[in-house]
Amino acid sequence: MSLIEVEQEKCKRDGICATICPLELILQEGEGFPEPTGDADELCISCGHCVAVCPTGALSLSGLPVRDCLPMQDDLRVSAEAVEQFLKVRRSVRVFKEEPVAREVLERVIDSTRWAPSAINIQPVRWLVIERPVDVRTLAGLIAEWMRKETLAPRYIAAWDRGKDVVLRGAPHLVAACGPTENFWGPVDCAIAVTYLELAAQAHGLGTCWSGLLTRAATSYAPIAEFLGLKEDQRINGALMIGYPKYRYRRIPMRNRAMVTWR
Ligand SMILES: Cc1cc2nc3c(=O)[nH]c(=O)nc-3n(C[C@H](O)[C@H](O)[C@H](O)COP(=O)(O)O)c2cc1C
Repeated sequence: MSLIEVEQEKCKRDGICATICPLELILQEGEGFPEPTGDADELCISCGHCVAVCPTGALSLSGLPVRDCLPMQDDLRVSAEAVEQFLKVRRSVRVFKEEPVAREVLERVIDSTRWAPSAINIQPVRWLVIERPVDVRTLAGLIAEWMRKETLAPRYIAAWDRGKDVVLRGAPHLVAACGPTENFWGPVDCAIAVTYLELAAQAHGLGTCWSGLLTRAATSYAPIAEFLGLKEDQRINGALMIGYPKYRYRRIPMRNRAMVTWR
């Protein structure tokens, strides 16, 4: 199959696909139909913009047929005010209900992260879900062990020794974003995907909290990498505790003003 297929009876030859292609891999001249450049097969990053932008759904990309690219639903648009409040009310949840989250809900939340941006559309994120609460507790214990060895945060260790899980906060599950160590943009791509996950989780009534401790410990304490089954060429670039929040926040805490330089 050619990289792009154009249904000629639908194509209006408006050239939008050629204009939108980030790598200028589509030519559309005069009355002709769009066609790929000679090097398109090699250079296309499969971002699908050409398919998504076509007003008549005339174009398919190899591996991205137009029938698989669902149309946007206008009735699901949200107002700027609703989005702003949604972003402001996201909190780091550190007190969870014991109730586990159904696998289907976790799957749906993770699925939303597929649309997070990634450098060159590589989509490098590999998710690791610690699903069983008992395993999350074991992991919290390993992190506490690492903290003790490194003499980090003595207050946390003291609380841990009193039986309070200040490490993974008694969360029933943990979701980590892993990426290949040699990928320059891996940490950024993972951080964006984790942020998508956090917001998608909130939309499903879930609470999350980043575990910077896990990310640090997983890179410096071998028993954790072993417990997680991390391969040598993979690292955790971000992780979230996840579960149903026990308490509901009712106000939006104030934050610093955005620091902006206008030039
Ligand atoms: C990269 C990163 C690592 C974090 N690590 C932890 C952590 O290990 N434990 C924790 O309780 N909170 C952690 N947090 C949550 C921050 O403390 C929290 O985002 C901040 O206090 C602001 O609160 P808010 O998220 O409710 O707005 C982390 C946040 C980020 C972005």
